[in-house]
Amino acid sequence: MQIDVRMASKKDLDSLTELVSPSYGRTLDDELEDQDRGILSFVIAWVDSKACGYGFVRWDGARSKYVRSKCPRLPEVYRLTVLENMQSNGIGTRLMQYIESKAVTRGINVMGLGVSYANVRAYELYKRIGYRDVVAKYYDVYNHVDKKGVVHEVKEKCRYMCKQIHA
Ligand SMILES: CC(C)(COP(=O)(O)OP(=O)(O)OC[C@H]1O[C@@H](n2cnc3c(N)ncnc32)[C@H](O)[C@@H]1OP(=O)(O)O)[C@@H](O)C(=O)NCCC(=O)NCCS
Repeated sequence: MQIDVRMASKKDLDSLTELVSPSYGRTLDDELEDQDRGILSFVIAWVDSKACGYGFVRWDGARSKYVRSKCPRLPEVYRLTVLENMQSNGIGTRLMQYIESKAVTRGINVMGLGVSYANVRAYELYKRIGYRDVVAKYYDVYNHVDKKGVVHEVKEKCRYMCKQIHA
């Protein structure tokens, strides 16, 4: 399976509607504007010209205030997602490898990410690729909009992990 990973750009937007739903009240245009300003990176994995996975990185530090107080300025990978029918083919791992290579070119040698206690599979994946627990417990609070358009506040118990990366 040929997996290509690259940064998202405006020309990709039409291909991303199935894969990426707007989140935290932000449109994909908002995300691309922040990417242009250097605040974040928005990374897409393609298989046979179909967008199958994505992830975001916030370069200036974790989104959670609590995590930032414990690990100041530790860049954060978030929203790593692969289409359900494409999971377990190495796409998530390739997205992480690409993100880590971008970090190295920025002179960054530690990356962080948060994972819910309920998400055992993602936690196992992150451990396998070298991430270790650094904050045992914090709460990620965000709004989820259901199919009827009703907004629900979600509060997830998470752990924060980090990895020493090298060129
Ligand atoms: C977590 C997630 C992004 C992982 O993506 P993925 O593409 O399935 O990850 P990978 O394929 O790289 O690795 C996962 C599995 O595939 C296996 N694998 C890795 N490379 C492989 C390859 N080349 N061929 C076959 N299997 C492979 C791994 O051993 C691993 O095993 P598992 O299925 O027992 O977990 C994906 O499951 C997902 O989108 N989950 C829902 C959203 C989510 O929870 N995101 C995480 C937020 S913290």
